[in-house]
Amino acid sequence: MTRESVVGLQANGDDERVLRTLRPRNLDEYIGQKALVENLAIAIQAAKERGEALDHLLFHGPPGLGKTTLAHVIALEMGTEIITSSGPALERSADLVGILTNMQEGSILFIDEIHRLPKVVEEYLYPAMEEFGIDFVLDPGPHARTVRLELDRFTVVGATTRAGLITGPLRDRFGLSMHLEFYSLDELVKIVERSARILELKVTAEAAECIAMRSRGTPRIANRLLRRVRDYAQVQRKDCIDEDAAVETMDMHGVDEAGLDRLDRRYLEVIIRQYGGGPVGVAAIAATLNEEQDTLIDVVEPYLLSSGFLNRTRRGRVATPKACRHTGLQASGQGALDL
Ligand SMILES: Nc1ncnc2c1ncn2[C@@H]1O[C@H](COP(=O)(O)OP(=O)(O)O)[C@@H](O)[C@H]1O
Ligand SMILES: [Mg+2]
Repeated sequence: MTRESVVGLQANGDDERVLRTLRPRNLDEYIGQKALVENLAIAIQAAKERGEALDHLLFHGPPGLGKTTLAHVIALEMGTEIITSSGPALERSADLVGILTNMQEGSILFIDEIHRLPKVVEEYLYPAMEEFGIDFVLDPGPHARTVRLELDRFTVVGATTRAGLITGPLRDRFGLSMHLEFYSLDELVKIVERSARILELKVTAEAAECIAMRSRGTPRIANRLLRRVRDYAQVQRKDCIDEDAAVETMDMHGVDEAGLDRLDRRYLEVIIRQYGGGPVGVAAIAATLNEEQDTLIDVVEPYLLSSGFLNRTRRGRVATPKACRHTGLQASGQGALDL
């Protein structure tokens, strides 16, 4: 996934280090996602009381909302070790088998981007998750026999931006499946204030709200914007981050009051200008923008949909009247009205 901008969602080296210090460590520090956190707290307490491994758990939702954070929080709350991997990293079944045979009782295997697990690897995961065993075929040929290797009981925590791409059999093996929602303004303000405390920054209430408002409902973006504003305030020799510094920084980085960045706006502009407001297929939009379709589906569209700039119909994507007002463009086609 490529996306070069301040609201870009892939982590780079420096970011990764800072983000880790900002990451909530336990459920008490985890802000928002109230219903999800309540359900999770119950599952954790129940498993602990029974002295059992937690049920396998799947988190789905757009990037930057706290899926990886939750996996680590669970390990800490359960008092177990966590081994982290990802769908694309588990290329061969031997990679997975190597990890599984080293899992200890109750430990957590976090598989990020689990929708990208190769099929052959996924098939080894089924019996491992369901029966805590792996079957090996020895002496292939006429005398083939299968040997079962028993595993300790462990917990798979899967994360995906695309629940729809998870195969039925894999989905069925998760006892709990939880969706992460975009964060409210209040929650994002709390996240900005918490991060400012950790980074020892002074931020006015107005500046915190400005950053929160422009972070696309996403904690990762809130933290990233805060750090860009910190740079700006430092260079301007301000010892407190105020609203002016926040607004200036956002403008410089092309993030508008609705939190939309350049790619978000270009996306809406393409639908309105080139396709009369829609409906238009995402493949056509991706081709016109010269962007990867996956980036549009995973990163751009979820927020535009949830904030009312975009509708998804059976015939394709449609820019809403709100999108027309926001971009100052007029849709020529039926799309914007024909919902
Ligand atoms: N509920 C939360 N409260 C506070 N900060 C959060 C929360 N969720 C995520 N963050 C921050 O956002 C960053 C990105 O979260 P992450 O778990 O990496 O998202 P995902 O795995 O869903 O892409 C984390 O480093 C953390 O600082
Ligand atoms: Mg993650």
